[in-house]
Amino acid sequence: MSNICVIGTGYVGLVTGACFADLGNTVICMDVDHDRIDKLNQGIMPIYEPGLKQLVDQNVRGGRISFTCDYCEALKNAEFAFVAVGTPSGVDGEADLQYVRSAAEVIADEVDHPIIVVNKSTVPVGTGDWVSDIITRRCNDKPFAFSVVSNPEFLREGSAINDFMCPDRVVLGSLDHDAASSVAQLYLSLRCPIIITDLRTAEMIKYASNAFLATRISFINEIANMCEEMGADVSEVALGMGYDHRIGHDFLDAGLGWGGSCFPKDVKALAHMAVLHGTHPQLLQAVMEINRNQRRRVVLRLRRALGSLNEKVIGVLGLSFKPNTDDIREAPALEVIHLLENEGAIVRAYDPQAMGAAARMMKRLDLCENPYEVARGADALVLATEWNEFKQLDFARLHELMRTPVLVDGRNQWDPDKLRSMGFTYFGVGRGLVNNHD
Ligand code: NAD
Ligand code: UGA
Repeated sequence: MSNICVIGTGYVGLVTGACFADLGNTVICMDVDHDRIDKLNQGIMPIYEPGLKQLVDQNVRGGRISFTCDYCEALKNAEFAFVAVGTPSGVDGEADLQYVRSAAEVIADEVDHPIIVVNKSTVPVGTGDWVSDIITRRCNDKPFAFSVVSNPEFLREGSAINDFMCPDRVVLGSLDHDAASSVAQLYLSLRCPIIITDLRTAEMIKYASNAFLATRISFINEIANMCEEMGADVSEVALGMGYDHRIGHDFLDAGLGWGGSCFPKDVKALAHMAVLHGTHPQLLQAVMEINRNQRRRVVLRLRRALGSLNEKVIGVLGLSFKPNTDDIREAPALEVIHLLENEGAIVRAYDPQAMGAAARMMKRLDLCENPYEVARGADALVLATEWNEFKQLDFARLHELMRTPVLVDGRNQWDPDKLRSMGFTYFGVGRGLVNNHD
């Protein structure tokens, strides 16, 4: 069993720390955010992630995980320092590496024993070498043995623990094969394929994977838009395509497009890297443009159904970028709300978990206690996030409550025939001819 320090206790750091502790290691999670660490020390989770609190609690009780803001305490006995700090978009779409830099500097300052620095943050190709240089230059006066290993993370929010514990693969990249093998030992009990490669290849695997998944979604959204003009149903098209094992069923759900803390910033960062290195990322540009347009199409639908949206009351169901998380970073719902407000619409919304985050970010947004409050007197309802509780609503009650019964099903969750027979004007995404149902 190993001593592990995790630097950065956000979605990735906290899940990584809790899972490694659960596998029997001794883990210290550190963060510069005092409030976050205080809360964790009181048993309060900083994020909503199914199963996380239980996992953290049981490993705190077992003495395998602890939380601190003190770098010295965190790194004192660490054999592995996992870096899981944020890498947000910079002004030109590049990954902002300031937090990675400060983590590297602190490792150089605090450590004086052999250590393996494992980078879990999503970072541009070449960052592992850059981190290695920072540490080497900074610890000149007290050289210690260290290696840098890239270990990109592939977990999804909402199913993060299962994704960590049952991964499709673990990717490790390093110039030091022994260091990569030591990190591989940490994952052996998960019994999954472990790919050991060089640093830059591992870093590229992460970006290429996210960009490919985003591309699949933009592809099916483009097909959905064609379906609306040609009278086909995109859900069945995706099903029919997915049975081909070369294609597969996953990530072919048409909707309002991809959001979240990673796809948007990672596709942008990869495109930025490409330009920087003199290649033209034309596919990635199209993938991003299709995604932007998916949100605009909601406004077009509503204009078609209601005419001017000025002073119209539009209800939005779901604010998080996907179900089972309270994360609203780059959530499609927020962009739709922004576009509607620009048209003069009065927007109100409800989300099962993301109301706190939304209230902090959008001070003027009218937040309701449940879907029926959202519907009261509304001219239209937009389903933006497919939380389970929105799948089986009392549609007769909604019909009674709404001023005009217009539904925009941005995630293709509802039954169009049933709703139309109840008197709703229903719009899905790519579900047959749109003009027939105006
Ligand atoms: P996050 O914003 O939730 O957490 C980052 C944490 O790092 C914050 O709590 C912040 O206070 C802390 N931090 C910043 N600088 C620090 C420093 N110098 N020392 C200690 N702590 C510091 O971010 P996240 O969503 O966990 O993402 C982290 C990285 O993992 C990103 O590169 C992201 O692209 C990648 N990633 C995220 C996911 C995901 O689902 N969220 C999945 C795979 C990969
Ligand atoms: C994504 C990847 O799936 C993870 O492998 C990766 O580790 C992570 O990004 C990351 O690098 O942070 P995540 O953003 O948590 O995970 O969520 P996804 O399930 O991938 O969904 C992303 C977005 O795509 C959501 O807005 C979702 O609604 C949308 N989506 C997903 C679709 O519109 N259609 C689909 O078929 C699937």
